[in-house]
Amino acid sequence: MCGIVGYIGQQQAMPIILDGLKSLEYRGYDSAGICTMDKTRPDIRRSRGKLFNLSRLVEALPLRGRIGIGHTRWATHGKPSETNAHPHQAGPVVLVHNGIIENYLALKSKLSGLGHTFKSETDTEVIAHLIEQKMKSGTAFEQAVRDSLRELKGAYALSIVSETDPDTLIAAKSGSPLVVGVGGKEFFVASDIPAILPHTREMVFLEDGEMVVFKNGQAQFSTVAGVPLKKMPKHIDWSPLMAEKEGFRHFMLKEIFEQPRAVRDTLSGRILEEEGDVYLEDLRLSDAGLRGFTRICIVACGTSWHSALIGKFLLEEHCRIPVEVDIASEFRYRNPVIGPETLLIAISQSGETADTLAAVREARTRGARVVAICNVIESSIAREVDGVIYTHAGPEIGVASTKAFVTQIVALLLFTIRMGRATDSMSLIRSRELLADLLHLPGLMDQVLTLNEAVRDIALHFIHARDFLYLGRGINYPIALEGALKLKEISYIHAEGYPSGEMKHGPIALIDDQMPVVVIAPLDRLYGKVESNMQEVAARGGRVIALCTEGDRDISDKAEAVLEIPDCSEHIAPLLFSIPLQLLAYHMSVLKGNDVDQPRNLAKSVTVE
Ligand code: M6R
Repeated sequence: MCGIVGYIGQQQAMPIILDGLKSLEYRGYDSAGICTMDKTRPDIRRSRGKLFNLSRLVEALPLRGRIGIGHTRWATHGKPSETNAHPHQAGPVVLVHNGIIENYLALKSKLSGLGHTFKSETDTEVIAHLIEQKMKSGTAFEQAVRDSLRELKGAYALSIVSETDPDTLIAAKSGSPLVVGVGGKEFFVASDIPAILPHTREMVFLEDGEMVVFKNGQAQFSTVAGVPLKKMPKHIDWSPLMAEKEGFRHFMLKEIFEQPRAVRDTLSGRILEEEGDVYLEDLRLSDAGLRGFTRICIVACGTSWHSALIGKFLLEEHCRIPVEVDIASEFRYRNPVIGPETLLIAISQSGETADTLAAVREARTRGARVVAICNVIESSIAREVDGVIYTHAGPEIGVASTKAFVTQIVALLLFTIRMGRATDSMSLIRSRELLADLLHLPGLMDQVLTLNEAVRDIALHFIHARDFLYLGRGINYPIALEGALKLKEISYIHAEGYPSGEMKHGPIALIDDQMPVVVIAPLDRLYGKVESNMQEVAARGGRVIALCTEGDRDISDKAEAVLEIPDCSEHIAPLLFSIPLQLLAYHMSVLKGNDVDQPRNLAKSVTVE
């Protein structure tokens, strides 16, 4: 969480940093700050609240200088306030930080003993004082940074400047993401790619324990210990436009509407129709390798965990291999039974989620082979695993995940086909059917998106409800969970997702004439059962919002509102049902006047445990 940006070059740093921070605001938005080196003096502006407040401040009191660092914060240590906002300064040293320094209390007490006084409650300020202390005893800026980094325990991505070296910018990483943009003789540093995209697509991804010193139009990469490194930039395909709203009122709405395009990109170049197979370019697992696994574990958090639950359904159904799904934050604390016969699949949009990354490391330590499904190219998880399936959804900026979710499921379907074909558990006819379904999917999604207005009317109708229940069965149960999570996250309405059959074991007690119940009821083999559940809700006065298959004429007398999705195979139906649920949460949030893209207390990438 938190976003950091740095710039060094011939342009004025302030507008570049401010723009970069705008595209990183999804990482945290309780305060923000910028420092530029104006000739030889660092000049700092900070403000509490959203970036807008900082923009106003720098409009009134502009910052000059061709070197600068900036930060947008998601509070961990110390409340959101101007004093706790970054950059933090100690003597000549000014820095911004993303991560958590676990031994900051010990360092703070040592430094206090040496006469340092601290202005903020943050762990970050300690780093600035540590560097300052070393410089006081004669160590040069760069070496003082190296020596200090070696004393830190925890996670950091840092951008650092010093009054003593006004032409130098230093950046370093361990545990938190950091990317360097290379643009001729100017350089950019950021927590995530979109902040740099308007300036360059040539990027270097720092590894843990690495740092870079920018000076005299050059970037010198090295390990923190001082071993020089040669790092070549990678070309990133994302276009700057992908990280803009393109006329939509919110990023979330834009991302919902671009799902057909995102799915096409996930499929692009991967479908082998004739062979009834798929090509997964970075999977790095042979047929023999795939045949060697006796079980699969999938780990993920939040929305990605919901797609993992769908993955279990798909893999067990088509590949007849046992699949266990874990919430990543629980995985390594329960002594999981895994070894070389286990394939672990980690799902993460950002590729930076601390809990998922920790689960990946745990699995690798125990000898499991690890494959990731990630959206962000060259993210920490993508780099630490044995193989990766990129979803190619493009940058997802809205905190509520939408296009990442559907493309994760598409990636899981592709992997299911690959696994099924490699292990002979899926027939050629079956795999061709699934491929045909996938190829039809973007067109069907376009059709479902025409429900937008109808969903808005439903949102208006139910806007005063205080609680919602979401019910689904089988492969659509995770869609019920996901629908409820979306509503909670952005409209702050309490919502629960349940398997429909479980309702009578408890949740049915909640049902009265105030309770909207969203029921996912496709015309599939479980239809009769879901229909009975719906009757049970209606009989208790519950207000049913039914999501059904086009042409289902029987459902309207059991439901107060009905949304029909096109008839399609059971395996892609969840992808279509998820769209009206995303739209419902979106419109509820807009009607309540909430901040859709930056809901309270949340951050896009959860890089702390
Ligand atoms: O980047 P990841 O997929 O690892 O993120 C996992 C969750 O933090 C994320 O899905 C979260 O639940 C979203 N806010 C859901 O909309």
